[in-house]
Amino acid sequence: MKLSLRLIASLVFSISLLTFLVARNQVRSQKSGMRGDLARRAEVLTESLQETVEPVLQKGPTQLRRIVERFGDRQHLAGVAIYDPDGKLLAASANLEHNAGTPPNVFATCKASDTGAGGFIKIGDMAMYAYAVPLHRDANLAGVLVTFHDAGFIEAQSSNIWRGALWDVIAEVLLIVLITFLIVRSTIVGPITRISQWMKDLRNGNAGPLPQPSAGDFLQPLTSEAASLGQSLAEARMAAKEEARLREAGDTLWTADRLRVGVRRRLRGNSLFVISNREPYQHVHNGKEIEVRVPASGLVTALEPILNACDGTWIAHGSSDADRESVDSHDRLRVPPDLKHYTLRRVWLSKEEEDGYYFGFANEGIWPLCHIAHTRPNFRTTDWEHYRRVNEKFAQATLEEIENAEEPFVLIQDYHFALLPRLIKTARPDARVAIFWHIPWPNPEAFAICPWQKELLDGLLGADLIGFHIQAHCNNFLETVDQSIECRIEWDRFAVNHSNHFTIVRPHPISVAFVDSSEESRGLLTGEPSRATILEKLGPETLFVGVGVDRIDYTKGLLERFLGIERFLDKYPQYVRKFSFVQFGAPSRTNIKRYKDFFFEVEAEAQRINARFQVDRWKPIVFYGQHHDHHEINPYYRAADLCLVTSLHDGMNLVAKEFVAAREDEDGVLVLSQFTGAIRELRDAIPVNPYDIEQLAESIRRALEMSPEERRARMKRMRRTVREHNVYRWAADLISELAEIRLDAPELTEKR
Ligand code: G6P
Repeated sequence: MKLSLRLIASLVFSISLLTFLVARNQVRSQKSGMRGDLARRAEVLTESLQETVEPVLQKGPTQLRRIVERFGDRQHLAGVAIYDPDGKLLAASANLEHNAGTPPNVFATCKASDTGAGGFIKIGDMAMYAYAVPLHRDANLAGVLVTFHDAGFIEAQSSNIWRGALWDVIAEVLLIVLITFLIVRSTIVGPITRISQWMKDLRNGNAGPLPQPSAGDFLQPLTSEAASLGQSLAEARMAAKEEARLREAGDTLWTADRLRVGVRRRLRGNSLFVISNREPYQHVHNGKEIEVRVPASGLVTALEPILNACDGTWIAHGSSDADRESVDSHDRLRVPPDLKHYTLRRVWLSKEEEDGYYFGFANEGIWPLCHIAHTRPNFRTTDWEHYRRVNEKFAQATLEEIENAEEPFVLIQDYHFALLPRLIKTARPDARVAIFWHIPWPNPEAFAICPWQKELLDGLLGADLIGFHIQAHCNNFLETVDQSIECRIEWDRFAVNHSNHFTIVRPHPISVAFVDSSEESRGLLTGEPSRATILEKLGPETLFVGVGVDRIDYTKGLLERFLGIERFLDKYPQYVRKFSFVQFGAPSRTNIKRYKDFFFEVEAEAQRINARFQVDRWKPIVFYGQHHDHHEINPYYRAADLCLVTSLHDGMNLVAKEFVAAREDEDGVLVLSQFTGAIRELRDAIPVNPYDIEQLAESIRRALEMSPEERRARMKRMRRTVREHNVYRWAADLISELAEIRLDAPELTEKR
């Protein structure tokens, strides 16, 4: 109500002020127009009288009076008076007789200048306009003729204007009060009352969907904040329930809260620094706006919850076009954008550095070297030089960040930074340095292709701990080290002694957060499409849907997957129109020719297969070849009958775990390549060899025809595995292991 009053008061004040100014101007210009008009008319009339009066001037007062009376009844003319040169009244109209005894001021002006003179005067309380002209006889001044015009009508006219303005203001004020009241009620009070009712319901635990304002509504920021608040509250409630459940069950589950406490204890007050090439948030220009994106990267998916839990610093390449505009003078910013749980420090690279280090050495060299996917690695000296220099640049940035941190924990991520552990450890021996290699490590013969394998191994062995997803990759790494550099391998405890520095090598299977989001918290924000909506969108007869989510990368087995779907429809035509496969494919590393070509190959293959089977708007493969965020993908995970993960080679593959984590309904079947790290944990997936198209087709059929009981039993077991081996546990184990390393006496490094 206060708001409406304030709004109304300011509107009334401004409108009154405006009306007053307009009326004043109008009065002024009308007044001056009417005054000018009156003066002109008085002048003309008086001068015409002058000609009549002059000849009869000497004829005496009776004659003069007759003339004066004759002219006395013109419009606005109040009267006429004739004076002798000394100001003595000779004759005056009857209605002036009592007031014209003394000549008005204009008499003197006229006499002195011997020409006509006029002016506004007051006679009694009457406003008059007096105009005087000289009267001559034989070229000498013989008298003065003065006409008096009534000017009262000018004031009356002005009062009318003021009165009209007052009525206007009154009418406008009433209208404003009415309109403001209606607008405030319908656009502010109504929606706010609805939102506050919703919040009340939320507090009582029975909130429905949040009332949505229309697009562009000024309450939208408030609504979306309220929705986030609702989401956080729902999640907090879930977490509390989960904690209670865990306490009850004496369970060993890791949650974000447990990690926060656990890691703080393990870090013993020291800070956590994470280094990766890919940043967790990218600022991208979108027209005039800056948009924040979360990139498609399993590594980002896995690390984000840890940084959120521990308020550390994440150092990464600022690779997007609006990144520089979003940092402070130290190239830092707090993220996630709305929650600001940790610091992101961006490192800038020139185009040449990015081309050589990232596209060249890392992704055309090491990536195909480590993935057995039949794409030849390319090693160029210039790329290697850039790789070395960029590793030095990141070392510099990391050393700046850890400068004031005692015994910092430094977690380096992936194949982009093989040289970084040594560079950091040499400058800061007190730092606990781990590197996690997110991709496979091949056998020694395959790795020997790399001309700089010794340098890479030496760089890596600067770390106190090297992590891989699975034991097989640890074994391959140790064998590679054994065969190529001077060192001692302690096979019994998986450690390397290289120049008297110990590095332990351990498997730590990475995972996802596994948040049990309640129906309540999911529905609140998103209003996400249901399975029925998704099926309807795919075709009127569609009964089954499969999903795939990948970066467009030749290691992901996308062509094989599509061939499997084609073979399945050939063998089982009863599924035509009934089964659709939705493939989300985020374009990746497209500056590399192999990737760019591969994108078009994937697209063309989907089109070819669709052309064979398409009926009306139904098609077997729906390919979305753009970046999609989790909110867009999750409804498909939840709606799908099956998820296909057909990597030709993959360190872990977090899509498989994301799918399982999303299936709160304990339904859905995972078809999983036997060449992924994930297959070792997700034993209830249907394992496939992606090169075996016949087997792929059969696996799709088996997944679609599996009994609901079997589906549930399998999904239940997989969910238990992912819940228990979630990313919080991964982080806790990794950090515990690093914390347990004895830096002062490395030869005593043992698990306590
Ligand atoms: C793999 C790598 C990550 C990388 C991700 C996305 O998962 O292990 O280090 O971030 O692919 O690739 P990109 O080159 O876009 O970062």
